[in-house]
Amino acid sequence: MVKKNACVFISGAGTNLKALIKSSREYNSPVNIKLIISSTKKAKGLNFAKIYKIPYYILNLNNQLNLALCFKKLKENNISLICLAGYMRILKKKFINKYNNKIINIHPSLLPKYKGLDTFRRVLRSKEKVTGCTVHYVNNKIDSGQIILKKKVYINKNDTETSLKIRVQKAEYKTYAEAIIRIFRQVNF
Ligand code: GRF
Repeated sequence: MVKKNACVFISGAGTNLKALIKSSREYNSPVNIKLIISSTKKAKGLNFAKIYKIPYYILNLNNQLNLALCFKKLKENNISLICLAGYMRILKKKFINKYNNKIINIHPSLLPKYKGLDTFRRVLRSKEKVTGCTVHYVNNKIDSGQIILKKKVYINKNDTETSLKIRVQKAEYKTYAEAIIRIFRQVNF
């Protein structure tokens, strides 16, 4: 199988980035992670870029020069898929339109429930019995693009935000890899 090139956008710990890199190196993965973009130099996830020797750039995409550099790097690397993984900035319309249906995101809830931040606290406060994660396409509304794949995680009575986060993130790692396999099965991708 000829793999397509993917780029991962991060802002934080980068545990999804690490899982994406690892899964991309398995035989059945349709992608190669060629490029990493971070919104901040403080992102711990940049360590994974270094460990796995993947080129990375720290870019503020609100800055026109940085945005132009980002477009250039995406083009140079022939990127077919952009995976947001804990990317804490809102992409501009211009960006989303240019990469229409080529940007995906992972969110720690069963969308359309609990869009936005602070999902674990809100889920626990609402006494939900089940939550999970969702991989979806990115459009111009936050956490609202077409859903590609969801996975449920059951909530225990004594769950805290921390314990729940650990289980949901574990589910995220598998779900993101599966979702990527799924989208490349689509004929037009
Ligand atoms: C993940 O839980 C993801 O769902 C959300 O941000 C978190 C990022 O974690 N969008 P990490 O940086 O991948 O560890």
